[in-house]
Amino acid sequence: MKKRMPAASDSAIEQKINELLGKMTPEEKAGQLHQTHKSCCSYEDMMAMVRKGRVGSILLWGMPTGRVDDERENAVNEIQRIAVEESRLGIPILFGLDVIHGLRTVFPIPLGLAAGWSRDAALATASIAAAETASAGIRWTFTPMVDISRDPRWGRIAESFGEDPYLCSELAFAAVRGYQGEKLGAPDKIAACVKHFAGYGAAVGGRDHTNSNISERALRDIYLPNFRAAVKAGVATVMTAFNDIDGIPCTASKYLLKDVLREEWGFDGFVVTDFQCIDYLRLQGIAADKAEAAEMAIKSGVDMDMVSGCFSDHLVQLVVKGIVPVEELDRAVRNVLRIKFRVGLFERPYADFNLADKIILCENHKKVALEAAEKSLVLLRNENHLLPLSPDIKRIAVMGPLSESRSELLGCWNPAGRGEDVITVAEGVKSVVSPETTVFTGGGGFEDTLLTTSSKADAVILVVGEHPLRSGEGRDITSLTLPAGQEELIRRVHNCGIPVVLVVMAGRQLDLSWAAEHIPAIVYAWHPGTMGGQAIANVLFGKVNPSGKTPVTFPRATGQIPLYYNCKRNVFGHPSNMQNYLEIARQGPLFPFGFGLSYTSFDYSNLSISPDTMTGNSGIVIAADITNAGEADGEEVVQLYVKDCIASVNRPVKELKGFDRVYLKRGETKTVKFKLNEADLAFTRSDMSWGSEPGEFIIWVGPDSERGLQGSFVLK
Ligand code: NOJ
Repeated sequence: MKKRMPAASDSAIEQKINELLGKMTPEEKAGQLHQTHKSCCSYEDMMAMVRKGRVGSILLWGMPTGRVDDERENAVNEIQRIAVEESRLGIPILFGLDVIHGLRTVFPIPLGLAAGWSRDAALATASIAAAETASAGIRWTFTPMVDISRDPRWGRIAESFGEDPYLCSELAFAAVRGYQGEKLGAPDKIAACVKHFAGYGAAVGGRDHTNSNISERALRDIYLPNFRAAVKAGVATVMTAFNDIDGIPCTASKYLLKDVLREEWGFDGFVVTDFQCIDYLRLQGIAADKAEAAEMAIKSGVDMDMVSGCFSDHLVQLVVKGIVPVEELDRAVRNVLRIKFRVGLFERPYADFNLADKIILCENHKKVALEAAEKSLVLLRNENHLLPLSPDIKRIAVMGPLSESRSELLGCWNPAGRGEDVITVAEGVKSVVSPETTVFTGGGGFEDTLLTTSSKADAVILVVGEHPLRSGEGRDITSLTLPAGQEELIRRVHNCGIPVVLVVMAGRQLDLSWAAEHIPAIVYAWHPGTMGGQAIANVLFGKVNPSGKTPVTFPRATGQIPLYYNCKRNVFGHPSNMQNYLEIARQGPLFPFGFGLSYTSFDYSNLSISPDTMTGNSGIVIAADITNAGEADGEEVVQLYVKDCIASVNRPVKELKGFDRVYLKRGETKTVKFKLNEADLAFTRSDMSWGSEPGEFIIWVGPDSERGLQGSFVLK
């Protein structure tokens, strides 16, 4: 194998880029901007193109990935060897894969991770995903997905961090650091890709791949801060979104890709499109043919074409004809090469299977997966302290369609997770109850025999919810009810008269209004990953005190959506509507954003704001005492919300501005402090400028978006 280049500093990297660029033919330049995939060509053709320097990146989805998928040949090293040793310039291929929530060790889906409200968990899970992925020779992943998701009909809400810009930004920052480290280049780190830029989560009617109607103000205030956070964390790449915004497809938006991303935010990585997006410019009716689509995309600031072939087929001619300035082509190549250098691809182009054997699915990775899953579980209801169940319970039935499922716990978008690695809920329960406990299991859950079994039990753990294929890309639904037959099952089991603990696994918040009235204990488990069954059992039997809080608002009915906590103020509750008061009262959420119970109780007291006036650049500190007033040790997610009372535009009723996870022993009190600066109060003002406005602000420090200690301060 050829001698590898040494690790390089930033200016040395720019020099190397210049040297390479000087040697590249126009075809090789266009090649660096082309990402291919097995759906585009045969394996042989792919290798031939790599040998000719006509490919910069390969989307590995569905392709063999070495030890990660050991039934098949390892494609990575084989293709890489051709790129490095047989292509003229030896530029390595950047392999990319959607490692959205873990490679072989699968963590909760991002929505579940968000329910953990833990920056540490976001960082730790991303670090592990990065290490497993890097060991397999894959140095790029298409995550974090930071699309604000206010519509649970949209299947991709599962891949998101939920509805709130602040929570999403914090987790996005942590995740990017987890994948990349503080500075890209360590052998166990990979390049992240924040997506989908921008506004994809606002797809009309929750229909995937449709248009988004977003005002510039909403774009700036709600949809862009998360991307900004990822860029601040140093994210290496950005993916354009399928949708258009106000008629401009994101893949042809100079405003987004050049003005905002490069000029305003100083991003110096590369921009890749989503799958086929350049060609989709024809379908979106702004390009007459593929050549025009390529021209629009590159001129708008796209650097790499994900599989459409428009760049590889047309860029050279567009430059030769003078339609696309060569500077645009060079700019894109520079951006791509910069990341290849930064990620250390030239030094370490190959998979390290000895390392992979050691780390993939190792005990430490499983431990982090278990902790992340435990944190993600949200206790929605616990009447009369039914939970935690005693491990000494005599007879327990574990039933329902997902009670013995394995691969279903992995959720959508997992490229290498395996059902055989997963601990089922039934197995988890068996591992935590006493040896004297009889555990009735029996699969499917719809059979009458199971109902007979359940009537013999002292309690029933009923595990229902969505198959992962009911959420994720293109998996939108029109009704948020549980899948067909499941509510009937819950009713039938409930009618046996035995206490029911309902566990719901899903890629979105579902309409649980009937269950929330009748079933005494409900745990929302999202899709919890490899260690999900163990995590659920640990929580149900009190080995772990639940601490998750919902990152999305639960509606009472599908017709209520979109329903999110940080809505604008309105005149809906005006006295002239008072005759409908009862109806209005029922319009609130079933479970508000930020809500989740614990086996203990937390008291909030001694709110202080100092100083109570914010001036210039000096911030204020908001503090409150949190006391564990119950019987168990536990963790509380303390949340800070702020309301801008009077502003030049209608502002949200409240906005999350801080959160902290605190562990409190029984009887213990801790003071939680939040620092707030003027910059935290900024928004898009009536004249479209970004900044804060003086006046009064109300704050709440509390356990969710509806409760908390209230105070106020003034911004001078
Ligand atoms: C399409 C999806 O929208 C995107 O999120 C993903 O990264 C690419 N396909 C590549 O698999």
